[in-house]
Amino acid sequence: MSYKNGSNETYVKLFSSEFNQDPYPTFSKLRQEDPIHQTLLPNGQYSWIITRYEDAVAVLKDPRFIKDYTSFPGEEEQEEEQAVSNIFVKNMLFSDPPDHRRLRGLVQKAFTPKMIEGLRGRIEEITNELLNKVQSKGEMNLIDDFAFPLPIIIICEMLGVPSQDRDKFRTWSNTLVEASNDPEEAAQLQTHMTEFVMYLRQLCAARRQEPEDDMISKLIQSEEEGDSLSEQELYGVISLLIIAGHETTVNLITNGVFALLENPEQKAQLINDPSLIESALEEFLRYNGPVEFSTDRWAADAVELRGKTIAKGDHVIVALDSANRDPEQFSDPEVFDITRGKSKHLSFGKGIHFCLGAPLARLEAEVAVTNLLRRMPDLQINSAPETLEWRPGILMRGLKELPVAF
Ligand code: HEM
Repeated sequence: MSYKNGSNETYVKLFSSEFNQDPYPTFSKLRQEDPIHQTLLPNGQYSWIITRYEDAVAVLKDPRFIKDYTSFPGEEEQEEEQAVSNIFVKNMLFSDPPDHRRLRGLVQKAFTPKMIEGLRGRIEEITNELLNKVQSKGEMNLIDDFAFPLPIIIICEMLGVPSQDRDKFRTWSNTLVEASNDPEEAAQLQTHMTEFVMYLRQLCAARRQEPEDDMISKLIQSEEEGDSLSEQELYGVISLLIIAGHETTVNLITNGVFALLENPEQKAQLINDPSLIESALEEFLRYNGPVEFSTDRWAADAVELRGKTIAKGDHVIVALDSANRDPEQFSDPEVFDITRGKSKHLSFGKGIHFCLGAPLARLEAEVAVTNLLRRMPDLQINSAPETLEWRPGILMRGLKELPVAF
C-alpha cells in the first residue's frame, strides 16, 4: 500500500484527548484548509480523513471505496493468522457486494420501521421501569442508570441473549470500540475478543440444540439451510448487532440530553411542545452524532479528490461529525436548534452501508427522551459541565459519564 505523509499535521491534534473534548475547531480548520487530509491514526495506520459534507457523501456512495481489504493481493494470508479478530469483520459492515447484500438481507426484515414500531410498547415499559428505580433518589448517572441499559435490554431480547450475560458484553464491546495501539490494551483486546467469540460459540450451540423464537435461532436456521451464511459470518453478524446495539444509541440519548441541558431554552421548548421530539432527535444526531467517524474504507483504484490522489489500497475514513457541521450544507451549523426539522445529516451514514438500526435507534431515543422529560422536567447537570469527559477511541462520540439531578 502506498502512503503519503501529511504535510501540515502540526496544527491538527486529531484523536488526542484534547481533540476528543471538542473536535469541532479542528474539523472546521480541516474543512477550510485541508479537506482531504492524510494523517496517522492511533493504530499506526495512515489514513485519509474526509471532512466536507459534499466529499463525505461522494466517498460514502462511491463503489471504488471498498470495505473488504482482504480482496487486495497479499492481504489474504493475514486472514488465517487473525482468525479471532476476523470474526468481527465477517458481516455486512465490512463486506462489499454481492456478500454485503446477502448478509444484510438476512437480518433486514427484523429492522424495518414497521417491525420496529411493534417494539414500542416494550421500549416504553423498560424506559419506565428504569426511571421508576431512580425517581425517588433525585439523581442518577444518566448513562449507567438509563441510556445504556435501555438499548442493551432491547437488542439482547431481539437476539435472544440471556439477560444475566449483559454485563459481559459491555466490557467486551467497550474494549473493541475503544481499542488503541497501546501494547497492554492490545493484549486485553485479544483476551476479550477470544472470550466474546467463545461465548458466541456456546450460545449458538445451545440455540442449535433448542431453537427459540429469536433472531439468533433464525440466523442459525439460515446457516443450516444452505450456503447463505457461513459459521464465521453467523458470529460476525451477531457480534455486529450486539456491538451496534451497545455503543450507539446510548450516545444518541446522552449527547442529546446533554445538549438540551446546556441549552435550557431548547429543553423548555421541547417540554412545552413534545411534538417537536422528531425534529429534536434529528438535531441530536446532527449536532453531536454518536458515530464520529465512519468505519474503514479502502480505495480499490486511484481516486482524485480536490486535487489530491488517493492511491489504490489507501485507507479512508469520513468524519461524519465534521460533515454534519459543514456551513456549506447547514445554516449556523454550530447552533443547536431542535426546530431545524429534517436535515440531511450523515449520522447514520449514506449509501449501501446506511445504518440498518436507524429505525430502532430513533424509536428508542424518542421514547427515552420523551418519558425522561415528562417525568423529570427539572432535570439538570449535576456537576460542572467542563469536568465532563468524552470517551477515547476514534469511532464513537459519547460522554464517559453524565451525572444529573431532578
Ligand atoms: C444512534 C444510533 C446509531 C447510529 C448513529 C448508527 C450509525 C451507523 C453508521 C454511521 C453506519 C455506517 C458506517 C459506515 O458506513 O462506515 C451504521 C451501520 C450499521 N448500523 Fe448503525 N447506528 C446506530 C444504531 C444502530 C443499532 C441500534 C443497530 C442494530 C442493533 C445498528 C446496526 C447497524 C448495522 C448492521 C450497520 C451496517 C449496515 C451495512 O453495512 O449495510 N446501528 N450505523
